[in-house]
Amino acid sequence: ATSPTGCPVSARASAFNPFEGEYQIDPAEALRWAREEEPVFYSPEIGYWVVTRYEDIKSVFRDNILFSPAVALEKMTPSTPEAQSILQKYGYAMQRTMVNEDEPDHMARRRLLLDDFLPENLAKHEPAVRALTRRYMDRFIDRGHADLVSDIFYEIPLTVALHFLGVSEDDASELREFAVAHTLNTWGRPTPEEQLEIAENVGRFWQTANRILDRMIANPDGEGWMYETVRQHFKHPDIVPESYLRSMMMAILAAAHETTSNATANAFWTLLSNPEAWDELCQNPALIPSAVEECLRVAGSIVAWRRIATADTAVGGVEIPEGGRLLLVQASANKDPRHWENADDFDIYRDNASEHMTFGYGAHQCMGKNIGRMEMRVFLEEFTRRLPHMRLKPGQKFENLVNISFRGPASLHVEWDPAQNPERRDP
Ligand code: HEM
Repeated sequence: ATSPTGCPVSARASAFNPFEGEYQIDPAEALRWAREEEPVFYSPEIGYWVVTRYEDIKSVFRDNILFSPAVALEKMTPSTPEAQSILQKYGYAMQRTMVNEDEPDHMARRRLLLDDFLPENLAKHEPAVRALTRRYMDRFIDRGHADLVSDIFYEIPLTVALHFLGVSEDDASELREFAVAHTLNTWGRPTPEEQLEIAENVGRFWQTANRILDRMIANPDGEGWMYETVRQHFKHPDIVPESYLRSMMMAILAAAHETTSNATANAFWTLLSNPEAWDELCQNPALIPSAVEECLRVAGSIVAWRRIATADTAVGGVEIPEGGRLLLVQASANKDPRHWENADDFDIYRDNASEHMTFGYGAHQCMGKNIGRMEMRVFLEEFTRRLPHMRLKPGQKFENLVNISFRGPASLHVEWDPAQNPERRDP
């Protein structure tokens, strides 16, 4: 086999399939060979150049003109005609949002909509996150066991996201199915039969998002980022067009929520798999912010992101033609020994952990990163204080939705002896 530039494709590059095997379990490990031997390779299976080293990934993220994000939400598996007609029936019209918008439109929009994300404007959400966390923990703290995903880490980031966006909690119930469908629709490899059900759910997600948005447009005085976005649309319809409102309403419901739920579950999984590190956090909670960064480095919830070359160019010395699609595997960058000392070690004392690529980099770097970080920190503060003796239930398997970008366990079972709860021994 040869790549679109006529270069031979190695046996390992030919065999690479991110929808199965090791990549689904541990994407950084699955690409260890590539980081060493073939850091940028063409994958015929997906039609992408796969980029695996830290500096290459950072340099692609840094240049969003040469490497456009226009394909960031493109479907990895094209819709069948049957799935397309289902989507049409629902009037599905996903267009550019923020994450896949080109310049100069992107920056003008990002600047107008940035305020709510600034640390000083996020601080007001922290007490509510803490109160919610305590209330949810109260429900299971005497039980001695929990599935942290279904008992707390799914719902709290959802509640926080809705509150931040200004969306009523009455709309929350349907969102779980929808988010799964959106992930599989965009980043998965559904069979033609699976595509039918996914298309129904994506279509319903689109309609729900539009219903929420129509209410905001009719009555735009509410509090929350989407209300603010609607108001900016009225003031600057050229910078914040209606198509953006409609697409963003759906995209942000998933982006603001699943990413954080998954990152939190991954962090607890990682820390509880390293009980010495967990115990050190319990002894010294001042380490929590740096532990959050180290967890985002070794077990981020977005493991790969996409770009498309707008001109003939090269990455890491490998020619990429105009129109070449790139899969930037952030999970691999995060374990690249050229950037990280003892890259494979989980080390909550690492002083440069926040240089991880999990939030992307450059002009499009995640706007919500400080919301995600704050939630993870509050969860860790509450759990290390109230359940320091919590342990991972042995023998469980990390089950993820089959897709190339979003990573997080379907469940996370933990156990502890309630008689040892600090608040019982020392109320
Ligand atoms: C963009 C990851 C949480 C809103 C992104 C990007 C990544 C990412 C990889 C693309 C970056 C790039 O192209 O350089 C994550 C992770 C999160 C998280 C791992 C949790 C741990 C959130 C939350 C929100 C949010 C909570 C909103 C409340 C956004 C927005 C963008 C974005 C609006 C587009 C920024 C732009 O294109 O200018 N995120 N995200 N994210 N994220 Fe997040």
